[in-house]
Formats: sequence, structure tokens, C-alpha cells
Amino acid sequence: MAGDLDQFTVMRAYKRWAPVYDLVFGALFDQGRQAAVAAADRVGGRILEVGIGTGISLQRYSARNRIVGIDLSPEMLRKARRRVAELSLSNVEQLTVMDAEHLSFPDASFDAVVASHVISTVPHPPAALDECARMLRPGGELILINRVGAERGSRRIAEHLLQPIVRRLGWRTEFPWEHFAGWIAHRPDLRLVERRPVPPFGHFALLRFVKSAPPENPSRL
Ligand SMILES: C[S@@+](CC[C@H](N)C(=O)[O-])C[C@H]1O[C@@H](n2cnc3c(N)ncnc32)[C@H](O)[C@@H]1O
Repeated sequence: MAGDLDQFTVMRAYKRWAPVYDLVFGALFDQGRQAAVAAADRVGGRILEVGIGTGISLQRYSARNRIVGIDLSPEMLRKARRRVAELSLSNVEQLTVMDAEHLSFPDASFDAVVASHVISTVPHPPAALDECARMLRPGGELILINRVGAERGSRRIAEHLLQPIVRRLGWRTEFPWEHFAGWIAHRPDLRLVERRPVPPFGHFALLRFVKSAPPENPSRL
């Protein structure tokens, strides 16, 4: 996977997608996004949405929660800012151009982190996942909507064959569960608490990880 998608390709792709993104992917990914927002609202508080794109989910968050959004693409974010202004969304704290692999917020700044259709589009998914986890306070949740590719069979072959084409469009078709399993195996501070399919096509999943509290210092017991 390393080297198959680079930052330049992703930025170029989403610069092109920005004017038509909502039209093409708005309804298509809606159910997954709704599920992610509902999960984040249940945690509540300060929520970071990574790869927020055109801010298509913004109006769905409860007005009680404060939302911070980041994205690599200035063109996608411009759309998000326009949406915030047009809908007068006063719970949106900040929308900033930032790389998911190098988040500039302090550790434990958020109660929940959402990344919807993002992790399989970043050049180095484990680095982005680590950064998302770093953002969480103990007890906080990482909520992902992501493609989970086939493990075997004709769908896996099709995903492999499509990969060079979709790479130029800014995402991966080939993203099997083993990428998440390999990452979580090195994260004893995180627990997978939910994995369930979301539309479309049964190729996507909602994943929720909860961050545990750091172990008590034995010298203080
Ligand atoms: C498929 S779109 C998803 C947008 C939105 N979350 C949604 O649900 O429709 C992927 C988004 O991730 C952003 N992205 C890709 N790599 C990124 C990175 N390294 N850091 C921040 N954003 C990134 C893209 O610019 C794009 O806006």
C-alpha cells in the first residue's frame, strides 16, 4: 500500500472533485455519514471531523456539540465554509487546512473524532489513525466510516484491478480489514466496540474505537 497514493495526487483529485462532490457523493454516502454523526453526538462535547471535505455532515450534528473540521484540500474546505455561513452554523468552531497525518492540536483535545470515507484516501492510513487516536481524551471515541475491501474472491480481484484507476480519483478500492486489524494490534489503548456494515453496496463499515484511560500510577496507590 505504501506509496500508492501521495499527497499531491490526493490534493489534485479533490481540487477537481470539489465543485461536484456533493452532487456525486451526497446521497450515495448519506446513511453512513448519518450513522457516524449519531455516534459522535452520543459522545457529545467537542468533536473533530477529519477530512471534513465540503462539510456535508455539518448541519446534522447536534447544536449542543462543538465541531472542528480539517481537510487537506482548500477547495473542499471553501465549500464547507460557505455552508457554515449559509446555514449560520454557530456550533462550528473552526475549519482549517491540515494534514490528518500531522494534526496540530494538543493531545486529548477532543471527546470524539470522526473520519467519514477518509482513511482509505490518505497516503499513510496508520499515521492518520494514530493522529486521530492522539486527539482523543480517555473514554473518547474514534468513529470511522470506511471501505472494507474483500478478503478474497472475485470482488478482491476486481478491487485490485481497479486500484490504479481509482488512485487518480483520490481513493483506494483495495482496503481490506487487515489494514485496521494490523493497526489496532499495536494500540492497546484502543478497543474496537462496534463494526457494522453501512450502505452503499455492503462494501463500507461503521467502526467505533474507545480510548481507555491511562493505567493508574502504582506509586500513588
Ligand atoms: C472521499 S472525501 C470524504 C469527505 C467527507 N468526509 C464525506 O463524508 O463525504 C475524502 C476527503 O479526505 C480528504 N483528505 C485526504 N487525505 C487527507 C489528509 N491527509 N489530511 C486531511 N484530509 C485528507 C480529502 O481532501 C477529501 O476531502
